[in-house]
Amino acid sequence: MAACFLREYTRPVRRAAACSANIEPSRNSDVILERGDTPLRRYFSSTVLLTTLVAFACPGLRAQSKSKDDRGHPWYQHAVFYEIYPRSFMDSNGDGIGDLKGIASRLNYLKALGVDAIWIAPCFPSPQVDFGYDVSDYENIDKMYGTLADFDKLQRLGKKHGIKIILDFVVNHTSDQHPWFVDSRASRTSNKRDWYIWRDGVGKNPPNNWISNFGGPAWQWDERTSQYYYHYFYPQQPDLNWHNPAVADTMFGTTEWWYRRGVAGFRLDAVDALFEDPNLTNDPVLPGVDAYGDPNVNHKYTHNLPEVHGVLKSLRGVADKYDAVLIGETWTDNVAQLRAYYGADHDELQMPMDLMLTGLKFSASVFRAHIDAVNASGEWPVFVIGNHDIVRSWNRYGDGTHNDEIAKDMAAMYLTLRGTPIMYYGEEIGMQNNDPQRREDVKDPIGKLGWPKEKGRDGERTPMQWSDAPNAAFSNGIPWNVVPETYKTYNVANELKDPNSILHWYKKLLALRHTEAALFDGSYVALNEKDPNVLAYLRKSDGEAVIVVINMSATPQKVMLDLSSHGLNADSVKTLLTTQSSLRNSSAVAQITLEPFAAYIARVGKSRDSAHR
Ligand code: NOJ
Repeated sequence: MAACFLREYTRPVRRAAACSANIEPSRNSDVILERGDTPLRRYFSSTVLLTTLVAFACPGLRAQSKSKDDRGHPWYQHAVFYEIYPRSFMDSNGDGIGDLKGIASRLNYLKALGVDAIWIAPCFPSPQVDFGYDVSDYENIDKMYGTLADFDKLQRLGKKHGIKIILDFVVNHTSDQHPWFVDSRASRTSNKRDWYIWRDGVGKNPPNNWISNFGGPAWQWDERTSQYYYHYFYPQQPDLNWHNPAVADTMFGTTEWWYRRGVAGFRLDAVDALFEDPNLTNDPVLPGVDAYGDPNVNHKYTHNLPEVHGVLKSLRGVADKYDAVLIGETWTDNVAQLRAYYGADHDELQMPMDLMLTGLKFSASVFRAHIDAVNASGEWPVFVIGNHDIVRSWNRYGDGTHNDEIAKDMAAMYLTLRGTPIMYYGEEIGMQNNDPQRREDVKDPIGKLGWPKEKGRDGERTPMQWSDAPNAAFSNGIPWNVVPETYKTYNVANELKDPNSILHWYKKLLALRHTEAALFDGSYVALNEKDPNVLAYLRKSDGEAVIVVINMSATPQKVMLDLSSHGLNADSVKTLLTTQSSLRNSSAVAQITLEPFAAYIARVGKSRDSAHR
């Protein structure tokens, strides 16, 4: 059964996180990069030119114009995505909470970083019980974030910067303050009664044993109509009844409303929880209790039910009319489950997130096995190493001593693999988790309920660290969430000055992604597959190959690379980027010694007799 995002992934990850704050940034990276008119740049410019000409000639087609390159790759495969948690990115009005104008003011930064699309976590009107994931109006902007006019402005500015906007669509549930639910709960005969899931109890007990993902029973008693309603998350987040066609039609219409406003796609929240067993079969109970003291259960009858695929197909049908992308919050147990979300006929999600990567330990052999499996599925991978629900990647993969180096290794890996990466704000500067120390300081309700085992998600949602000015220059007011002390070292302004910073490393990597054709659509070829310490692979396209070699251990590693069997010449390489200064001018990789946690990336020439291979 598929895992849900908190029960089977976030919690183990949180416990495993190695927290080592106040580590000085490393000074060992060394970057070399050549930019120029590469094949990939040419794809981009020809695509853009063609699209623009067609759009001008036939204005009616503008919304539908396809931005595929001449090899048939859609735009989202070229793009680097970046998640923004809007409360925490940039506050423009001094109320301590980030907003749309704040995001607009930082588009220059994102462009310079190499970002092509931003996914903004929910910014719709909401009582904010779950910080926006409890929506009370799907077609507006919450006052705390601005107005629809601000959104339109952001959209226009995004266009100017070549940055597309993706919104977060909370499909599984609404807020209990949404007018639909207000109507639904008013009486058993309300128009919208069947928009949610209402059931009688069994005697004085809830209808069955289903447990909420956020603690306690998944059924809430409602005095007014003497029935229970179902909520997979907080009681203030009643689940929509997706068996009701009126719900489905309305939600599809909402996506269209935003597409017409220029939105380039949606990240679909909790899609795997859309359906529940209509027979209300009890979930199997497992041994032990969770952080909230509830029995562990296998969410067999509330999670990843097959009906979800029908909804995804319909959502995709609407998205395709607008060349929009659907990203899934898809917590899966294995690659086969992940693959199913693309649709048997590639007619569901274009980008189901591979969130399994976030649960893996930092290890060359563990990553290799996973990457091999994902590539073997034949689908276009979507790699993610962090988000607003899980401990920051700096802490999670870090060993407590070499976290900066490991942060660079993780970037070197997931930004050079085949697929589309989705970054999480602040990851590029090595932002760290800052969990509350006392229960009374916790803001995230699950942290209050599950304290001290579950401290909530405040720690990974702290304000973006722009400089070492007060409040990390995030806000002139009092920030809604605590800025960690490490902001004095880990911040954009400082790191821009330091050529060896994590930020510079990201910038160079992202530039490479946009310029090296092999890094974009080259195949993935694992090298030295038995090496437990060094992850090495090729990205190979028609005319080019790039080699990536990462020492994922704390000891120096000698690496022998035989590239001749791949038609390549290990003695003819052009170093593109490395953290190891001694390899800066290296022109051969047949045998190299990598310092602990060093990463090395180079363009490799063909071997003389490669024509025969
Ligand atoms: C997943 C979101 O990422 C999380 O932040 C939220 O609390 C739940 N879905 C409920 O919407």
